[in-house]
Amino acid sequence: MLTTFPEPGDVILSDERNHASLIDGIRLSPARREIVAHNDVATVRRMLERGRAGEPGERFVVVESLFSMDGDEAPLVQYAEACAATGAHLIVDEAHAVGIYGGRGTGLIEERGVADRVFLSINAAGKALGVAGAFVAGPAWAIDYLIQRARPFIFSTAPPPALASALDASLDIVEGEPQRRARLRAAVETLRARLATAGVPAGAGSSHIIPIFVGDNGAAVAVAEALQACGFDVRAIRPPTVPPGTARLRVSVNVNLTDDLIDRFVPALTSALTGVGAGL
Ligand SMILES: Cc1ncc(COP(=O)(O)O)c(C=O)c1O
Repeated sequence: MLTTFPEPGDVILSDERNHASLIDGIRLSPARREIVAHNDVATVRRMLERGRAGEPGERFVVVESLFSMDGDEAPLVQYAEACAATGAHLIVDEAHAVGIYGGRGTGLIEERGVADRVFLSINAAGKALGVAGAFVAGPAWAIDYLIQRARPFIFSTAPPPALASALDASLDIVEGEPQRRARLRAAVETLRARLATAGVPAGAGSSHIIPIFVGDNGAAVAVAEALQACGFDVRAIRPPTVPPGTARLRVSVNVNLTDDLIDRFVPALTSALTGVGAGL
């Protein structure tokens, strides 16, 4: 997508916390790139206005709908409005939102009601969809254009049909079993409430991605290892994946997290954090 639609002379505005795959796609694109501070709608709006004021080239805004390491949302409504008002094109990576949000489970674009103002979305299938690979969603003409023009698509072997079939089955489950999303939301609410009561330094928000900030790299690894020894597959995320000094655990809640597991997880976490002297 990012090497096919933006052309020389165009500009891509990219959130500074975008995933490496977006960064690499943007680097491979012939368009000029501008990195924008995280969720800085005012700056994006200003840069888009410059485009409308006569600066040549198309403008693309590229964001994740739910950021992978912080679990916070992009202000999609504001971005969609700004893009619509200035003729810019909004590209949204729904990797962590597809299958989780929206009445039909298609993601945050659906949940926030901006589908008519988003140009294209990228939907990674290896997260909630439980498969692998990804698909692009957007207007038929744009998908057709990609099929005809996207070199990485044209000049590489197609995914095996079994993968497409598994993805198809996964999408049926997402659409047909919304109760799974409700169960996930309930588990997230319970865990977030318990973490808050225990005074754990968890990231704000309401998503299933809950960063637990530790700060020091070694301490984050020690906490993760202590939790892994108790049977919890929690990983420490360190720079360069996140900014220096913000090493963290990345807790990702899945639909099978029971109250019983939460009851065991929170004390294990607080004891591991206390063990490394992380302030509680
Ligand atoms: C926001 C985001 N986009 C894209 C990807 C790429 O997904 P995959 O590794 O399944 O291709 C990831 C994976 O971590 C991601 O977090």
